[in-house]
Amino acid sequence: MECLGYGKVHRALIVIDETCDKLYGDQFRAYFERYGVQTRICTLSGGETSKTLDFTLRVVDAMAGFGMMRRSQPLLCVGGGVVMDAAGFAASIYRRGIPYVRIPTTLMGIVDASVGLKTGVSYGGGKNRLGSYHAPKCVLIDTSFLETLPERELCSGAAEILKLALILEPELLIELEENTPHILLDKFRSLAGHRLIRNSIRIMIQQLSGNFQERDLNRLVDFGHSFSPYIEMRRVGEILHGEAVALDMAICIAIALRRNLLDEPFAQRVLQLFRNLNLPTINESFSAEELFGALEDVVLHRDGLQRVPLPRKDGPGLFANNIELLDVAWAVDYLRNG
Ligand SMILES: NC(=O)c1ccc[n+]([C@@H]2O[C@H](COP(=O)([O-])OP(=O)(O)OC[C@H]3O[C@@H](n4cnc5c(N)ncnc54)[C@H](O)[C@@H]3O)[C@@H](O)[C@H]2O)c1
Repeated sequence: MECLGYGKVHRALIVIDETCDKLYGDQFRAYFERYGVQTRICTLSGGETSKTLDFTLRVVDAMAGFGMMRRSQPLLCVGGGVVMDAAGFAASIYRRGIPYVRIPTTLMGIVDASVGLKTGVSYGGGKNRLGSYHAPKCVLIDTSFLETLPERELCSGAAEILKLALILEPELLIELEENTPHILLDKFRSLAGHRLIRNSIRIMIQQLSGNFQERDLNRLVDFGHSFSPYIEMRRVGEILHGEAVALDMAICIAIALRRNLLDEPFAQRVLQLFRNLNLPTINESFSAEELFGALEDVVLHRDGLQRVPLPRKDGPGLFANNIELLDVAWAVDYLRNG
């Protein structure tokens, strides 16, 4: 708790995911009591339906009610990507920015949501429509939280590891293939699981550094994030974030196949890995027209160009700015009928 550089911390507000509070709240309370840190706990529910401005404002109210000092009393965010994004947003706007610490408890939180500077909530039907860039003072990672994470949530987080493997690092793909399904059975707590987590964080940091505020919108880490915001928001609370990312990646793999960026055996090999990780490759309820239409908002978000990352067989992916309805229709048909 001296990570803030202001000496010993005496008071802190903890925003904790409701499920995590039930599982780990007593341990947190005992820990801070033991070290003489006065805390107030603000419990909020995780899950995508909670990622709203109301969540953020409840954290703001809790900070005001606690009478938090502006620099020396941090906000501790304990939970998955939802708590870190929505509470991190509160930290970034309260008194124009107060220090906060991320303590991720999901695989998604550990390998992705806790790595960059992004905070935010969804608004008006748009995913992460309101948000900011606000660096945490530190991120504390403890993979033992994963022991209680349901398998479906674990697989959702694994989609982000798969993303990095497919778009950036073929070695990571092999590592993931060789260790699936064991990593799901031991909840990423084996040496192999830890190595995959470490490598993913390393790749994320390499990709983000120098571009933390996304001045350059050509970001390979956006692979899987072109069609997925639409998919996720249309089925909010039903399709998990990582599952929407998987559906998006599958479409992009098929488009890459159509454009000869990769071959059929490679596409089939990768789609098998999706299945081994219990990740979906197609959702029957979305038509090609609807998915193609989703790119309209992406073009606004990416300042006038599609910039859709597509994977290549042997190396880093590339950006496509000319995806047409025909590409998406071909991809949907390929994924439905093989
Ligand atoms: N800021 C970023 O750069 C970034 C990157 C990736 C994802 N995200 C965001 O993260 C969100 C998804 O995060 P998520 O997948 O962690 O979802 P989440 O925060 O909703 O957590 C998933 C579920 O797991 C439960 N949970 C959390 N920790 C647990 C534990 N240790 N044991 C048992 N249950 C536990 C939660 O209560 C919740 O029901 C999305 O909103 C996405 O946009 C942000």
